Amino acid sequence: MKALVFGSLNIDYVYSVPHFVQPGETLAATDRQIFCGGKGLNQAIAFAKYGLETWQAGAVGAGDGQMLLETLEKVGVSTNLVLKKEGPSGHTIIQNTPEGENNIILFGGANQQITKEDVDGVLQKAEEGDYLILQNEISMIPYLMEQAYKKGMHIVLNPSPVNEKIFEMPLEKVEYLILNEIEAAAILEKYGIPKMAEGEMLLDGLMETFPGTKVVLTLGKEGSRYGYHQERYAQGIFPVKAVDTTAAGDTFTGYFIGEMINGKTPAQALKTAAMASAIAVGKKGASPSIPVREEVEEKLKDR
Ligand code: RIB
Repeated sequence: MKALVFGSLNIDYVYSVPHFVQPGETLAATDRQIFCGGKGLNQAIAFAKYGLETWQAGAVGAGDGQMLLETLEKVGVSTNLVLKKEGPSGHTIIQNTPEGENNIILFGGANQQITKEDVDGVLQKAEEGDYLILQNEISMIPYLMEQAYKKGMHIVLNPSPVNEKIFEMPLEKVEYLILNEIEAAAILEKYGIPKMAEGEMLLDGLMETFPGTKVVLTLGKEGSRYGYHQERYAQGIFPVKAVDTTAAGDTFTGYFIGEMINGKTPAQALKTAAMASAIAVGKKGASPSIPVREEVEEKLKDR
């Protein structure tokens, strides 16, 4: 059994700024760093650093994608299924404030050039029982989900970033839905459930709307929740000084699903994922901030 992360690979241009740029303002950045990112790549790295056999599928630009592939290969992710397309790789412009907050402009590039044929080619290499991990930064996801479901794969969806494309997806086929409170509220609103601020109410709404799906909800400072049928678990955060929140959610997803694949309980998986993402928040950059499992386990001792 393997984890197949079919998702985005982006070059992240991270600008350190005193505050987010305002309309009409020209703002000098105090620093700029270039990192490998993309929700797909980050989650693939989180799986590999957790210790699972991990394959990345997706697309990069033929001219500028090499650094993305090398970053994955360095941590043992198989990149044979990453396609090379004409034109640029996906990239982002990220503003990072002294408080550790960020905002992101995303250019899809090669990530949005994935075709039905590409999906068919990748899924030929997958087997029943494999885990397919998806986010919302590539093209062809509805078709990909349909085909993977027919094949008997476990489908994990992190519906991020949330936008109209989410509602073209066959969400009832998702086994694990991993999302934050903003994504949860946006999805529930579309299903006719009015905007709700309360974390527990969001979990109730998701469990009612998707009764066949295991829901994992992250609630910022309020921690995280798991809900499925009669089971519910809550986990608090491990407080840390925020340096950069980029990829904290991706780290959480990789570690949570990694633990579930390894036969841990949802409560244990929430705890490990909470610690892994706390470590990621304390470091700058997307993929470089994702910890290895030994570091997470060391920090969890006696907690
Ligand atoms: O989740 C963080 C990621 O979102 C960044 O690495 C950026 O590339 C965007 O896809």
